[in-house]
Amino acid sequence: MKNIRNFSIIAHIDHGKSTLADRIIQECGSVTEREMGKQMMDTMDIEQERGITIKAQSVRLDYVKDGEHYVLNLIDTPGHVDFSYEVSKSLASSDGALLIVDAAQGVEAQTIANVYLALDNDLELIPVINKIDLPAAEPERVAEEIEEAIGIDATDACLVSAKTGVGIRELIDAIVDRIPAPVGDPEATTKAIIYDSWFDSYLGALALVRVFDGAIKKGQNIKLMSSGEEHQVLDLMYPHPMKKIKTPAIQSGEIGIVVLGLKEVSVVNVGDTITDAKNPTAEPVGKYEPAKPFVFAGIYPIDTDKFEDLRDALDKLRLNDSSLSYEPETSVALGFGFRVGFLGMLHMEVIKERLEREYGLDLIASAPSVIYKVYLTNGDEIAVHNPSELPQVNFIDRIEEPYVRATVITPAEYLGNIITLLINKRGTQTKMTYLNEDRVMLEYEVPMNEIVMDFYDTLKSISKGYASFDYEPIDFKVGDLVKLDIKVAGEAVDALSIVVPRNQALPRGRVLVKNMKELIPRQLFEVAVQASLGSQIIARETVKSMGKNVTAKCYGGDITRKRKLLEKQKAGKKRMKSIGKVQLPQEAFMSVLKMD
Ligand code: GTP
Repeated sequence: MKNIRNFSIIAHIDHGKSTLADRIIQECGSVTEREMGKQMMDTMDIEQERGITIKAQSVRLDYVKDGEHYVLNLIDTPGHVDFSYEVSKSLASSDGALLIVDAAQGVEAQTIANVYLALDNDLELIPVINKIDLPAAEPERVAEEIEEAIGIDATDACLVSAKTGVGIRELIDAIVDRIPAPVGDPEATTKAIIYDSWFDSYLGALALVRVFDGAIKKGQNIKLMSSGEEHQVLDLMYPHPMKKIKTPAIQSGEIGIVVLGLKEVSVVNVGDTITDAKNPTAEPVGKYEPAKPFVFAGIYPIDTDKFEDLRDALDKLRLNDSSLSYEPETSVALGFGFRVGFLGMLHMEVIKERLEREYGLDLIASAPSVIYKVYLTNGDEIAVHNPSELPQVNFIDRIEEPYVRATVITPAEYLGNIITLLINKRGTQTKMTYLNEDRVMLEYEVPMNEIVMDFYDTLKSISKGYASFDYEPIDFKVGDLVKLDIKVAGEAVDALSIVVPRNQALPRGRVLVKNMKELIPRQLFEVAVQASLGSQIIARETVKSMGKNVTAKCYGGDITRKRKLLEKQKAGKKRMKSIGKVQLPQEAFMSVLKMD
């Protein structure tokens, strides 16, 4: 056990986590240069294209230092805050972490959020300043920022270039020297945490575990502590970059893959503790909480016949993603679909994209919403995931909404605009730190609903792309909130309802109908777009009629031109949904998020 090192890599997006992981793997000689061809740490297609790490992948590496053999377990973390529960469990399985910061960019918001999680887990942090090959690299300045923002000593930070390989061997030596060996009792009964799980079509549900005490052995009957379910261990493997290596046991201090031959990944939940069925351990490793969705959206097939196909696709995605939740929902406007719960905005985008790309579905999504706790005058408490389901005002005693702790790091020149934005978003400042004379770190408590609404894009545009942002959910607080409804041609469109602060209802209603007016294509008749609070209309715009048929002007003309025009109209219609006689494009459903 003394020669094992379990470590994670934490970094802001694009600071070079995957590139560095691949370099370390290569340096440890597990794979040849040729096999390095494509990045190995990210395995899913969408990850490759977007360059983000969604599902944790870990590897066991061999390394020799001063004639001594070491096992290095690189524990990959999802990195993005949407998956913060999974990140925290990966970190709980590590004994140290490499904190990567881009030498040209400096500390960013996601670095901070991940560092908090690492410090919660008492991890030894090794600051790593990457991309020192860049002409704009300023390693000393970045080291100071790390000290200022995080309060750790960065004088002995490792300076590397994951691209050229400079400093990589020194970094691995530092991992061996500075990260403590795992502690645990090899003689005690089995105690291991599941820090990742997925579905393999041959082997069934797989659990990636870190063993703390005792060992997990092939043939052993184990118990999953949260559910009390017992299963036999069919097989055990070490994760290797190119293949899986079978082993008869995973010992105390090690990581490995447990095969239980189960068809449902939801049985092996991240955060759960595995112990011996006959002789269970008294305490689980940390508290287990099932994944909680924070963002909800209605997802509907454009073609109503595809409802069952959508259900099948969601069922299949859930096999591999137990954090995905959904239930059937009917919308007057959109027909039959599902209300789907996501961990965050990125999770939502990824799922939507996979449904469309991998399952060939044409979908329309309602604007995302957070969850509201509504206390009724009769003393009941209900959770509302869909703004259109908010009860009438006279039944409501009070509404509580979720808040997040938002971290923003920005060049000082944009500070004023960003503070104004955060105030407009109902934020309260809890911290402001100058990382150096021209970079500032802000911490605010902000209603999560405001983050879902158009926050990120606005932040990027007012800071010319320089400000970085990250958040984590904190708690629920009372808000003075009302439901704003939208009517198109006199019909209320349930999928367009949103919840807004009472004092913003009027300006938001005006902006919304104006935006909708721009988005609704002209029809053969005049269309009224109205915003209302209950039965009171607070804003109205009119989409003028287009007068005559667009094809009319082709009469007598060239038939191919006419066909082209019709084709174009058809393509445009693909993402339209009929509301009564009016065709609404997908953008109309998202326009409720736009603030201006
Ligand atoms: P996510 O997986 O999206 O979080 O990103 P990441 O942190 O894994 O970053 P990734 O490894 O994908 O690197 C981001 C970009 O930086 C890529 O274009 C890399 O080629 C580049 N990059 C990584 N390390 C270095 C380096 O040392 N020097 C230079 N010049 N570029 C680097």
